[in-house]
Amino acid sequence: MLDLSPRPGDLDPIETASRDEITALQLQRLKWSLAHAYENVPHYRQAFDEKGVHPDDLKELADLRHFPFTTKQTLRDNYPFGMFAVPREQVARVHASSGTTGKPTVVGYTKNDIKTWSQVVARSIRASGGRPGMKVHVAYGYGLFTGGLGAHYGAEELGCTVIPMSGGMTERQVSLIQDFEPDIIMVTPSYILAILDEFRHRGIDPRDSSLKVGIFGAEPWTNAMRGEIEQAFDMHAVDIYGLSEVIGPGVANECVETKDGLHIWEDHFYPEIIDPETGDVLPDGEVGELVFTSLSKEAMPVIRYRTRDLTRLLPGTARSMRRMEKVTGRSDDMMIVRGVNVFPTQVEEQILRCSGLAPHYYIELTREGRMDDMTVHVEATETHADSSSREIQAAELRKHIKDVIGISARVFVAAPGSIERSMGKARRVVDHRPKS
Ligand code: DLL
Repeated sequence: MLDLSPRPGDLDPIETASRDEITALQLQRLKWSLAHAYENVPHYRQAFDEKGVHPDDLKELADLRHFPFTTKQTLRDNYPFGMFAVPREQVARVHASSGTTGKPTVVGYTKNDIKTWSQVVARSIRASGGRPGMKVHVAYGYGLFTGGLGAHYGAEELGCTVIPMSGGMTERQVSLIQDFEPDIIMVTPSYILAILDEFRHRGIDPRDSSLKVGIFGAEPWTNAMRGEIEQAFDMHAVDIYGLSEVIGPGVANECVETKDGLHIWEDHFYPEIIDPETGDVLPDGEVGELVFTSLSKEAMPVIRYRTRDLTRLLPGTARSMRRMEKVTGRSDDMMIVRGVNVFPTQVEEQILRCSGLAPHYYIELTREGRMDDMTVHVEATETHADSSSREIQAAELRKHIKDVIGISARVFVAAPGSIERSMGKARRVVDHRPKS
């Protein structure tokens, strides 16, 4: 794979600034953001007053811990535009996340916010190895989802040629990759696997494609999956993280030269890790729930937004800004199977250890009496498609899950191509247990 490390002068000065410079900027911006939220959003005024805190109480960054959290429910309660801090006429764009239940959560951006967002996505693409002049194929969905338009504006900002393909039409994705020869693809990790199937189906070796870098996010994926994708395409696979409530994609991104977790663009988003049970702030290095406060957003500032994503904060490496470890999963996706906490990503790692299994899977949860059962549905590869090989693979996966995760799971190895492919975020867990 190509060496795509940045050269001197490629980076924004803040990416290599000292920690002191970064914290000084954060403190100044955090004071502004708290005051902006308090003065312009009735919800924040009320929540701060109820907790007995005022923006002036923030003297240092650590004082943020005294301020109230914001949750998805807060946004739902203020649906659709109640969290906006500027007159609606100044909101240049809205996005919304669908959510599986209830109302969508709506977010808004001023023109300045869109500029900031474009800049952090441009920075993310550059961290991934992108440079001005490269061609970027965007296969995240366009529309209310932030993935497509977020990636699009960032790629333009960096000076790339954008191919706004959106998700779906998998055959066409492959044709356009063959014809337009993009350097970079931005897509969910599960959808690149569907694109990979299509390459193979047509007898085209994906390693011969023009792609040098894939920028994958919007859902959890493992380092084992990175290895699988890098091997299949002979390209770098880099992780991009974000959420609509905080801005969209581009809150944090891995650097191609280290691939050791995602640098958080801390000049715009202030991270904390909390104990999800008590809400207490945990020191860097400890795993907990990631919480973000926006430092520069105008239309919809978020104060201590609880992401439900589990990770930990680590010191900077390729950049001075802190890293977050690859997200293990959302606390909502955590399955408790006979008392053991399991994330789909842990199962994914075990699947990818089995050479006869393809990385397409979902997990079904059922309950008989008081006992939870977990069934892993996964596909055999073409070379292991006969029934005896499938049984051997099922036994191997069962053993890995038992040995490493510590639970007895049922494993069902299906024929190649039989598990539904996702066009965007994959649904990894199908829960048939009665709602308690
Ligand atoms: O998924 C924004 C995005 C688009 C990020 C494209 C990256 C690429 P939402 O639809 O609001 O926004 O969903 C946000 O997706 O809280 C995580 O649970 C999950 N997520 C996003 N990126 C990652 C990642 C977009 N790299 C939710 N790893 C977040 C793991 C991720 N989970």
